[in-house]
Amino acid sequence: MSSTKAYNYPGPLPPPKQPDYWALDTWSDQFDPAIHLQIEPPKSIKDLDFKDVRFPFSPKEKMKKGGLAYTRSFRVLSEEGVRAARRAVDNARERYPQGEVKYPIGRGNKRATHFVRGLGYTSKFVRDITYDRTLTDLLSDLAREELWPHSMTMSVGHTNVGQPATGKPVDKWHVDSVSYVLVIVISDIKDMKGGNLTVFQHPDSGGTYWKKLQIQGVPPELVETVSYTAPGYAILMQGSKILHAVTPVLKAREPRYSLVNSYMSTDVFLRDPTKYHTFLEKGFDDRTDVVPLEFARHKAWRIKGQMAYILDEAPFGSKPEDLAKVFTDAGAELCKTAALLLGKEEDSAGHVDDEEEEAASGKVKVKRNAVILNSRM
Ligand SMILES: [Fe+2]
Repeated sequence: MSSTKAYNYPGPLPPPKQPDYWALDTWSDQFDPAIHLQIEPPKSIKDLDFKDVRFPFSPKEKMKKGGLAYTRSFRVLSEEGVRAARRAVDNARERYPQGEVKYPIGRGNKRATHFVRGLGYTSKFVRDITYDRTLTDLLSDLAREELWPHSMTMSVGHTNVGQPATGKPVDKWHVDSVSYVLVIVISDIKDMKGGNLTVFQHPDSGGTYWKKLQIQGVPPELVETVSYTAPGYAILMQGSKILHAVTPVLKAREPRYSLVNSYMSTDVFLRDPTKYHTFLEKGFDDRTDVVPLEFARHKAWRIKGQMAYILDEAPFGSKPEDLAKVFTDAGAELCKTAALLLGKEEDSAGHVDDEEEEAASGKVKVKRNAVILNSRM
């Protein structure tokens, strides 16, 4: 048993119980992969050295583990899949409208103009796309590690809605609180100006590099704009490691809709980038009767997997110190989870509060002394 162990433990399905007030719309479009999916893998990806790597990977590249920054845009949904996904989003917004029900599906906040959360609990269609095995297998191949939809079901089917000509970015510079995201565009983007994903070309922007950015800003020469080809096309990105933003939609035939699904590695010994407080009031402001249980389930799955490693995988001859480390680390993760749930500790992924003026000017610059981090990583 080596100290750099990896153990993939099957990821969980959404909770068998529903949160109060929300129901899955099992009566609308029934997901049929033959009709709704049209998977055409990308020709290349960018790795964390920001080099283009051809896909399918050569045997040598395939041997490498992880290392994905983002993929080129690739097709995931058919035209009918896009229409059905839009119906799913719009139906959920109509069923749970802001200002009329206790827990609306669509809202806005300081960081993003308008977003929809909760489709994992209200749309059977979106849930079924998310857990489709052909799709998760392709994403695992692209990431070169086994991926599974994130345990926190509120992050299934997160949808950003970018209204044209507001001057506000669809999403400001930030790193994600979950390892990977798949962003699928589900609106008409023909002739759209703006609404592009911009990526800062530096590996692990979520780490110590943050401090430097806080003083110097995001260097424009290191920013790449990644375009989506058409509705139904997607980009898979390791959003926890790279700083990214979505530029304002300057002109478009309709609001820009992007369906964002979150994924995690199933290696239960990998560092977990999930940040509890990002889902609470200072972040997504998800339901407070949902987030604690989702986070607890996520951690329960990880620790269960770590214990399954001892039960089913560890070989005879394992050093006592190595076995002990599994328990010490699991204990620390459990204690930290309890402290977070009790509000004794805080965590949150960072986002850059670069204020509206840069958005209007289109310049990528971070104001000195602006509040950049709410992260305590
Ligand atoms: Fe993001």
